[in-house]
Amino acid sequence: MKHFTTLTDTYNFNNLLQLATFYKNNPFIDNHLGKHKRLGLIFLNPSLRTRLSTQIAASNLGMETIILNIDKDSWALEFNDHVIMNGSKVEHIKEAAPILGNYFDILGIRSFPNLQNRAEDENELVLNSFLKYTKIPIISLESACLHPLQALADALTIKETLLHQKPLYSNKKPKVVLTWAPHIKPIPHCVANSFAQCMELEPDYNFVITNPQGFNLSKKITKNVHITHHQHEALENADFVYVKNWSAYEDYGKFSTDSSWLLNSDKLKITANAHVMHCLPVRRQVEIADEVLDSDKCLVQEQAKNRVWVAQAVIATLLKNSISCN
Ligand code: CP
Repeated sequence: MKHFTTLTDTYNFNNLLQLATFYKNNPFIDNHLGKHKRLGLIFLNPSLRTRLSTQIAASNLGMETIILNIDKDSWALEFNDHVIMNGSKVEHIKEAAPILGNYFDILGIRSFPNLQNRAEDENELVLNSFLKYTKIPIISLESACLHPLQALADALTIKETLLHQKPLYSNKKPKVVLTWAPHIKPIPHCVANSFAQCMELEPDYNFVITNPQGFNLSKKITKNVHITHHQHEALENADFVYVKNWSAYEDYGKFSTDSSWLLNSDKLKITANAHVMHCLPVRRQVEIADEVLDSDKCLVQEQAKNRVWVAQAVIATLLKNSISCN
């Protein structure tokens, strides 16, 4: 694994999850792996969990971390080629990225989509520019379309929950439902996309997506997953309900505040006493009702805790790979 930018194609998903579990039980066992190595975390957008969990993960491996909030602390970057830079953008990625590649051993990048131009977002210009010009391993801390670190933590959380409740699930495929939730503004598809990709790697789950008409995710992501526009139907007998808002993919960037999709305790009555998941941050009483978030079936804290261990597994794998290549 040279980079970590998507769950698909190149990575051994189950090995990463096993390594994350190993680090959860032995946080400091590899605390020399990152000695004299430096991780740069570059943020073009805000973060609480990704920023801190990745920094803690690096620290557990003995690695130094430097965080740069490009939007606040640095020069505004131009990513497009052949632009006459006489506007607000001060520095081109062609100059900035090789410098970062020189200062750091691994670079994490967070860059959200603009949700105005689908083709532009799907081109992943920011992430791909760093990949092109830094020449060092890149970790996606959430890109325009994907959030693979979050999906790894989600997969680990489901696996652990199943393990703790094995007798309940031993005779059936666990039903995992990704349900759209309302929101007050356009939100990226990244978490939902990566979660759907992750479920594709878990053939032992019965995975269903439910969202309103007009809010289907990209067919390139959902492929043959069963999608229903009837939330009630999807929730029946569900074991895990992952709640997440995303803006429209077809009518790109459109959003909806339709409160009939809020996940509340009444809706949970039709599930199989489901666990509830959300990547956070969550808007209480808009996406999920208070009583659900405050219940013991809610896994959001476990998901956030697991962000550390999956980040540690990813950083360690990249470090081991770069050591073996040297
Ligand atoms: N879930 C997640 O990525 O949280 P942050 O945006 O706070 O990093």
